[in-house]
Amino acid sequence: MEQTFITLNNGTKMPQFGMGVFMIPDGEETKKACLDALKMGYRHIDTAHAYQNERSVGEAVRESGIDRKEIWVTSKLWPSEYGEGKTAAAINKMLERLRLEYIDLLLLHQQVGDYIGAWRDMEKAVEQGKVRSIGLSNFESDRLEEVCTAAKIKPAALQVECHPYYQQADLKKRIAPYGTIIEAWYPIGHGDAELINEPIFTELAKKYNKTNVQIILRWHIQEGNVIFPKSTNPQHIKDNFDIFDFELTADEMAKIRAVDKNIRFFNATLEQQEAQFTNWAPAD
Ligand SMILES: NC(=O)c1ccc[n+]([C@@H]2O[C@H](COP(=O)([O-])OP(=O)(O)OC[C@H]3O[C@@H](n4cnc5c(N)ncnc54)[C@H](OP(=O)(O)O)[C@@H]3O)[C@@H](O)[C@H]2O)c1
Repeated sequence: MEQTFITLNNGTKMPQFGMGVFMIPDGEETKKACLDALKMGYRHIDTAHAYQNERSVGEAVRESGIDRKEIWVTSKLWPSEYGEGKTAAAINKMLERLRLEYIDLLLLHQQVGDYIGAWRDMEKAVEQGKVRSIGLSNFESDRLEEVCTAAKIKPAALQVECHPYYQQADLKKRIAPYGTIIEAWYPIGHGDAELINEPIFTELAKKYNKTNVQIILRWHIQEGNVIFPKSTNPQHIKDNFDIFDFELTADEMAKIRAVDKNIRFFNATLEQQEAQFTNWAPAD
């Protein structure tokens, strides 16, 4: 079976599976993880200005020798870069760091600051061909509807915490009218042992001769979530991608849905997010 693609609300086809590079140090480590992944068939990398490793992601994309059109690159703007005019300049700087001609998907990383001004500039960047698709990350308050209502270009994707313990069923209903898809961060709960070792995953891993993590990742794919588990371990990078040769039954999908505990690993009120995310800015 081939890897799967999701068609976004602008008609673009995005690889549903990729590599996330949060917390991987810039330089050789990020470059190697991305190159290992690309060699194994990954065609999607998720980075952010805040991760401070966009330069190495861009290097890996160029050095892979793979046609640029085949690789999907997502990056994210930090609130310190939000505002009409300011965001346009930040997008130019991002393209310089990546040394790429365009970004496949550009997200607003956090729901604080002048996100409406930023969205206007992102829409202009789409018109200019600097960015192919635009979306949001961590917009879970009513600021989500505020942006969606103001937007000429509706968000193609919303990247949020999402895993079997926090499945985001309500959020999916909220974004359905805009044709926005969910990208799941912490797809395996940031490696949480309790989540990974839930008995249902162990049972299904035995049945399909897969690992518990592969069962979780396969569940995401069949749920329609876009995922990019992070790993610097070559065996994990290989295993995580090896999920396209089996299919969970409807009954098994339902059993995994029943694991939802409405528990998230990252908890912060909007006020805490305002304080935390406006008091820091990534270096150029
Ligand atoms: N928008 C946002 O605010 C936001 C926030 C968080 C994350 N993200 C994005 O989502 C991506 C994924 O999130 P994440 O990296 O925090 O969490 P994650 O992918 O759920 O988990 C990563 C952890 O799981 C381990 N792991 C990976 N594959 C494994 C396997 N097959 N078996 C056992 N352990 C495995 C990794 O260790 P090894 O390296 O040793 O394999 C790492 O410790 C990020 O890289 C980033 O791109 C976005």
